[in-house]
Amino acid sequence: MKSFAVASTIVAISALAVANPTPDWGYGWKGDKKPYLWSPFEFTSTFHVVATPEQVFNNTVPATYTPGEPGAVGYFNYGINSYLDTICYNITLLGVTGDYRSGARTATHIHQAKRGLTGPPRIAFPNPGPVSDDKKVIRRSVGCLTGPFTTGVLANGVDTGVGFKVAQIEADPASFFTDSHTVKYVPGVVRGQLA
Ligand SMILES: *[C@@H]1O[C@H](CO)[C@@H](O)[C@H](O)[C@H]1NC(C)=O
Ligand SMILES: *[C@@H]1O[C@H](CO)[C@@H](O)[C@H](O)[C@H]1NC(C)=O
Repeated sequence: MKSFAVASTIVAISALAVANPTPDWGYGWKGDKKPYLWSPFEFTSTFHVVATPEQVFNNTVPATYTPGEPGAVGYFNYGINSYLDTICYNITLLGVTGDYRSGARTATHIHQAKRGLTGPPRIAFPNPGPVSDDKKVIRRSVGCLTGPFTTGVLANGVDTGVGFKVAQIEADPASFFTDSHTVKYVPGVVRGQLA
């Protein structure tokens, strides 16, 4: 009886897949090569980045060490679903003061560059807003974004988010960093490498 139940479930799922040409769920492969059912409620990877002022570099050639706001820290937590090209974020900034500033659509990003280097933003997140009575001290931003991505920054006339997939982060997290920019700390108020 049990095997019959499993078989009929598979048949039912297959029938649904046929009826759903652009599914938002299905079967995939995780790192250990075990098949699993993916859905908007699953992440294929998560990243917990502690961003500090000491990791900031200015966008000069070569990049120059340009520390951000003293005492500030950022907890940039990401959950990626690479099948859906979706990234969920829970970003908390502590001790960051002043307005945000960036040439991009927002001032909170994932950029593509290795540690100690700078590179273009690939994803622009809503800036963390105040969540405490002391509006200058604790800021948070929570939500999810799905590609296609745009940043509002052009490189050779093309938006630096165009063609970018979150799977690229999973493939080489050491080549990405996350940060926020403020008026007083334009190169970055805090920064952290994804690996
Ligand atoms: C960063 O570099 C730019 C030149 O690319 C310069 O104008 C700016 O003053 C520098 N910012 C800091 C904080 O060093
Ligand atoms: C975001 O992170 C903060 C700090 O860890 C936590 O208190 C909060 O519950 C998280 N929010 C969500 C929606 O996960």
